[in-house]
Amino acid sequence: MATRIVSQEEREKQNYYMQCVRDFNSGRAVRPAACIKTFGCQMNEHDSEKLAGMLERMGYELVPDETAGKYEGRFCDLILFNTCCIRENAEEKVFGHIGALKGAKREKPELLTAVCGCMTEQPHVVEEIKRKYQNVDIIFGTHNLHRLPEFLYGALIDGRRVCELSHTEGEVAEGLPVKRASAWKAWVTIMYGCNNFCTYCIVPYVRGRERSRRRSNILQEIEELAAGGVREITLLGQNVNSYGRDLEEPEQRESFAALLSAVCERTAGSSLRRIRFMTSHPKDLSEELIEVMAKYPSVCNQLHLPVQSGSTEILRRMNRRYTREQYISLVEKIRDRIPGITLSTDLITGFPGETEEDFRETLELVRMLRFDMAYTFIYSPRVGTPAAADPDQVAEELVKDRFSRLLELQNAISREKNEACTGKTFEVLCEGVSRTNPARLTGRTEGNKIVNFTADGICAADAEGKFAKVYIDAAQTWSLEGRALEWEEL
Ligand code: 5AD
Ligand code: SF4
Repeated sequence: MATRIVSQEEREKQNYYMQCVRDFNSGRAVRPAACIKTFGCQMNEHDSEKLAGMLERMGYELVPDETAGKYEGRFCDLILFNTCCIRENAEEKVFGHIGALKGAKREKPELLTAVCGCMTEQPHVVEEIKRKYQNVDIIFGTHNLHRLPEFLYGALIDGRRVCELSHTEGEVAEGLPVKRASAWKAWVTIMYGCNNFCTYCIVPYVRGRERSRRRSNILQEIEELAAGGVREITLLGQNVNSYGRDLEEPEQRESFAALLSAVCERTAGSSLRRIRFMTSHPKDLSEELIEVMAKYPSVCNQLHLPVQSGSTEILRRMNRRYTREQYISLVEKIRDRIPGITLSTDLITGFPGETEEDFRETLELVRMLRFDMAYTFIYSPRVGTPAAADPDQVAEELVKDRFSRLLELQNAISREKNEACTGKTFEVLCEGVSRTNPARLTGRTEGNKIVNFTADGICAADAEGKFAKVYIDAAQTWSLEGRALEWEEL
């Protein structure tokens, strides 16, 4: 299906509803508060920034989501759940939160509860919400996020229960207001959806087919971010390496590598010093991309390259379309061309049909490739995916045992890799105060390793978004520890 941009007419309609809600809110005695609770991946985080941007335009005060939907001891006026359904536990968490709000309308009758995101793209989940969670006022999907003003208008002004599931897939909404969570770090979506249909994965069903944004829109957004002082961007897509394949105009149809090099050229010499991207599917990662990564210093020496399993047979059953050997040689090629690159991966244990032998191949691959970091998951059957209907499901005790063996191995490797960083100095982009110890600052290296560090006499508010040279004196499994030697601009 051709990728269409949401029409001017539709945008004007939404602007009209935005204005109506804004007028309604300005008539209230107190400025209404809204809280967005976001679950799942960076794509959702960024979608929430757009939802927040629209809510702010409609007169809401956005409050942080740590407060269980409360603001100054009272419930907010609007609580919006942007949901994830990648694994069962993600869904359970969301249901737990929505359920906890069941009695809230007694305390605050005007409270509106809304649910959007990946969960609501599954018809059986929508039925469950409608049946069991009468407290939910608004339900909408991932493809019609830009219509929030219209849905809110319906619930708020017409007092309707709104359930608007996406019918038009294949549209890209440009020009939405965005309230970014950070002034110096930004997500930039370059494409939506996924065409790969890995047999365990729900994403293609809930996010639809691949839709690329036009190059001109992406570059304009990035140039504006760079001009506004942003230091780091992450280009987002379920599979960034297939960027552009769906664009109709031949002159637009360029590779991800070409887009990335254009981003680097356009932002050279600006405040934007770090460019990351995720996620890369190994089958589509081109030599051209490796060359662009090697050429431009602003592309971080870091890559997230999900392997999922070390067994060719399991990879086949997963429909990953590469073999163990092809993955290994890809990693070798990348490491040859970009020495010192930080590599992370995703691994699933207990995929249907996984034997002890298959699992050992995963352990052996992990031992051999020594990833800096791996996100390890227990396979979770998702309704409607081929693997969920596979009769060869692996017994729970076996999966748990394999999962802990894998975790133990990877944790030891992560720690060793981090220990090899001690005694060295890294450039760290400071993100603020460390969550674990407020006396320290936190930030990330170019390789995306977390560094918690001391910085005598430096206040976090001044340091945020600035680069420091940090000497590493200790290593943990998931992070490094050190002290700032000097700051770039303080
Ligand atoms: N069960 C377990 N893990 C999954 N992932 C995706 N779908 C499932 C599932 N059904 C993991 C994959 C993917 C990451 C984002 O989540 O490893 O790369
Ligand atoms: Fe899911 Fe596979 Fe697409 Fe990644 S590439 S989003 S794992 S279907």
